[in-house]
Amino acid sequence: MKNSGRGLFAGAAMLFLCGAGSAQAPAFRPVGTVRQIMLGIVGPASDVIFAVPNKPPKDDTGWQTVQNSSLMLAEAGNLLMIPGRAKDKNDWMKFASQLSAVGAEAFKAANMKNAAALDDIGNKIDALCEGCHAKYLPKQQ
Ligand code: HEC
Repeated sequence: MKNSGRGLFAGAAMLFLCGAGSAQAPAFRPVGTVRQIMLGIVGPASDVIFAVPNKPPKDDTGWQTVQNSSLMLAEAGNLLMIPGRAKDKNDWMKFASQLSAVGAEAFKAANMKNAAALDDIGNKIDALCEGCHAKYLPKQQ
């Protein structure tokens, strides 16, 4: 019994490996440019989080908007890391992955309706925007 179990496992592992190597594996398909993601997703989502300290949501619907925006920011970090968008394999990936991490922190705080925590997290987000822009924003003419 034990042996046939192992055989099954090995077979499944082979199938998995073959599938992973298949030429037809669907790939990421970037649609927007980095600039479009900034203007369409990252900017609007972070604006919602930055507004919380001055004007905390009053009801569940308001908090839902903050939750959704935090999620958008966290996932935008992932979008920036996919091949075709990533500018390099070093600092770019670090900044993008940190954006994802602080977005996840914001999501947690928004789920707990913690406006004070979102104040601190907003500062971290702001520092990240600036850090990545200092290195990667095209220089003005
Ligand atoms: C991983 C790096 C990275 C992070 C993190 C990042 N950005 Fe950007 N951002 C860029 C790059 C690169 C551009 C320039 C894109 C271009 O013009 O090709 C840009 C451009 C922008 C623009 C458009 C500026 C313009 O008018 O050309 C806005 C707005 C923007 N970012 C907002 C933000 C905000 C807000 C944050 C933080 C919540 C942020 N970005 C975080 C890399 C980043």
